[in-house]
Amino acid sequence: MNGDPSSDPSRGVDGGLGVDTASDLADLDHTPEQMAAMGRAVLDMVVAHQKEVMHAPCRGGVQADDVCRAIRQPLPPEQGREIEEVLRPLFDDWVKRSFTTPGPGYMAFVPGGGLFSSVLASLVGEGTNRFTGIFAAAPALVQLEGDVLDWLAGWMQYPAEARGLLTTGGSMANFSAIVVARETLLGQQLRDGVLYTSTQVHHCVTKSARMAGILADRVRMVPVDAHYRMRMDALAEAIAADRAAGLKPFLVVSSAGTTNTGAVDPLPAINTLCHEQGLWHHCDGAYGAMFHMVPELRGVLDGLSQTDSLTLDPHKGMFLPYGTGALLVRDGARLKAAHGASAGYLPDAADEEFYDPAQYGPELSRDYRGLKVWLPLQVLGAARFRAAVHEKYLLAQECAEAVSRIPGVVMDTWPELSLFSFHLTRPRAGAGAEAPAAEPADLAEENRLTRALMEGVIRRGRVMLSGCEVDGRFLGRVCILCFRSRRAQMEACVEDLASAAAELLAGA
Ligand SMILES: Cc1ncc(COP(=O)(O)O)c(C=O)c1O
Repeated sequence: MNGDPSSDPSRGVDGGLGVDTASDLADLDHTPEQMAAMGRAVLDMVVAHQKEVMHAPCRGGVQADDVCRAIRQPLPPEQGREIEEVLRPLFDDWVKRSFTTPGPGYMAFVPGGGLFSSVLASLVGEGTNRFTGIFAAAPALVQLEGDVLDWLAGWMQYPAEARGLLTTGGSMANFSAIVVARETLLGQQLRDGVLYTSTQVHHCVTKSARMAGILADRVRMVPVDAHYRMRMDALAEAIAADRAAGLKPFLVVSSAGTTNTGAVDPLPAINTLCHEQGLWHHCDGAYGAMFHMVPELRGVLDGLSQTDSLTLDPHKGMFLPYGTGALLVRDGARLKAAHGASAGYLPDAADEEFYDPAQYGPELSRDYRGLKVWLPLQVLGAARFRAAVHEKYLLAQECAEAVSRIPGVVMDTWPELSLFSFHLTRPRAGAGAEAPAAEPADLAEENRLTRALMEGVIRRGRVMLSGCEVDGRFLGRVCILCFRSRRAQMEACVEDLASAAAELLAGA
């Protein structure tokens, strides 16, 4: 069969496939005028939303099963509609049925961000839609991503030979790190390899271990001390026991800021132990690593720049919209050895001088992630990022001081970075309001009170908090990392915690 459809008896003048090739139906493009009008309509809606989010309730109506059932479409529409009409219910209703994650009062979990310049970078990335998975296809665009990785490495004080990878988030960065450590130290002998992490690690690490072929019986959850940091004595003992059993310890995954309480593991001691024992030290800094950008705060993260690999999450500590994580590997050649590949249908990989994403990570086609980090840094400048990260640290210290003075609140952890935890107890009858609880209610009662405290604050609408359960105790948490959270929101947080606590202790 040649390329002329009319020479193929199975095809008619319309191509023989039931498709009229001359019809407008097959033309999916819009005219420049239509694009401009559609773009303006959508941008107006997005900007109106950005304005609204400053005053929106911190948690919308997330009990939305009926709404989900009502909007379910078993089939896509056959005919298209105006984009404004399509998006109207999304902005008027569906978006509002959510945690207001980019709102100033969002201090739950680990806040993300949503800097507007990064939003526009997504538009530019997809509006130009170039292939940035390999250097050869768009060298100058990929160079911007290479710059971003170098800047991240510089802030983390990683050496010049470090290389990295922009991922969709911290989870995928941790996954690739485990693969690199496994490839470097275990080769084909996966079964005996043992990974060590603390009981407080983010669950994506154990999930990643499983995806990387490290089975559950080769993952050790090392106990923590009173500050929820990995216990070095327990780590050393676990490694020795595994060696004695003929297994091969190969990786310690520490946390630079746990999700539960913000604890920073003893990074220098873990570096030393891993060095002595020939283990890889990967640090999950998805929450906390960005604080290393601020020279005054580097002491809290001492040892971070000597780790073998490091996860960062620009969609947390750089306030970007969801979808941008990062992995740095100290010896960049290791990252490349674990992920590099070639194929007959692909152009040659770039020279060592240039960064070539597909050689350093698992993906080929991908969104243009580099621009989402590069553009905000160009528009705002690095100094403003440092100032904002530093401010979140300082606000957390002030906020923790004020929260600790609320009658009935017992601090469980003070902020090492910008996260602290606490619980509510009933102060001793007859004691002054500031007196510590001498006869604490039992754990179940304190847990009930603390859960109710979180809910009471959220119900007031200004501040969204979340708690966590650690060893049977429910902890309230405040995590300050939204770029829109400023002093006014700290004050709101303290006021609402104080009034909700007073209400509970009076009524309960
Ligand atoms: C410490 C830590 N590690 C990893 C992750 C997972 O990151 P992501 O949600 O970006 O995949 C989180 C998310 O909050 C985290 O707090």
